[in-house]
Amino acid sequence: MELNKGPVGVFDSGYGGLTILNEFLREFPDYDFIYLGDNARTPYGTRSFEMVYQYTRQSVMRLFEMGCQLVILACNTASAKALRTIQQKDLPAFDSSRRVLGVVRPSVEKIGEVSRNGHVGVVGTSGTVQSMSYPLEIQKLFPGTVVSQQACPMWVPLVENDERNTPGADFFVKRDLNKLFEQDSSIDTVILGCTHYPLLTPVIERFLPADVRVMSQGQIVAKSLQDYLQRHPEMDQRCTRNATCEFFTTEDPAKFDEASAVFLNQPVASRRIDL
Ligand code: DGL
Repeated sequence: MELNKGPVGVFDSGYGGLTILNEFLREFPDYDFIYLGDNARTPYGTRSFEMVYQYTRQSVMRLFEMGCQLVILACNTASAKALRTIQQKDLPAFDSSRRVLGVVRPSVEKIGEVSRNGHVGVVGTSGTVQSMSYPLEIQKLFPGTVVSQQACPMWVPLVENDERNTPGADFFVKRDLNKLFEQDSSIDTVILGCTHYPLLTPVIERFLPADVRVMSQGQIVAKSLQDYLQRHPEMDQRCTRNATCEFFTTEDPAKFDEASAVFLNQPVASRRIDL
């Protein structure tokens, strides 16, 4: 029987997932990718469960229509609020051979190697923090870990508006990290639980104690995908390999192409898509 084959779909509410795509392109140079940014409806971080689920579901279905057999939700908010329902409800109804994976679980799996004292801090959007996905997943894999969370609602707009190197960015990053460490001064590992945040790493590191480790997700998720494809050769065979990468946005392509330069190490020529 002829296998259905297609590119790997990478989805984010906007530009943040490009920090994950960067690492995919490095790790899988011959694979095909389609990136979809729902820029018209970003941010997801402040939206209800229902809206994040509906928007994410529409985007995943669109990527399926474009031939993707495997879709990565390169967005913590979508992974936290929509992934489980899509896996449990939508995939069996649509096509149980396709797969949708997220970014929360691979990040959590790494904690055991990184944290030395079991005190972990998570920064993310309000939606990711409220979902409690990180604390719940961490307790499942590493019971006894002390997890503190801080929502940082200003960090995504700072990145989206290229305000990273401004006094405003310093103010909000310092304020939110202080709030995190007020909850637990023993934190030795901070997970950047939002795909936009790696762009703020230089600022974040300036306001963290020197011995605190910062976990950003790009490489972790890319390694985890490699591991997944090795364990699931049937899915690996369904990923086409012509070294292409296409970009779609629900907003203005010219705007997307220009802004992407901050996130991605290669030029982007996107197309507009309606969901
Ligand atoms: N990049 C998304 C994440 O990882 C957040 C951006 C948004 O709020 O839409 O959670």
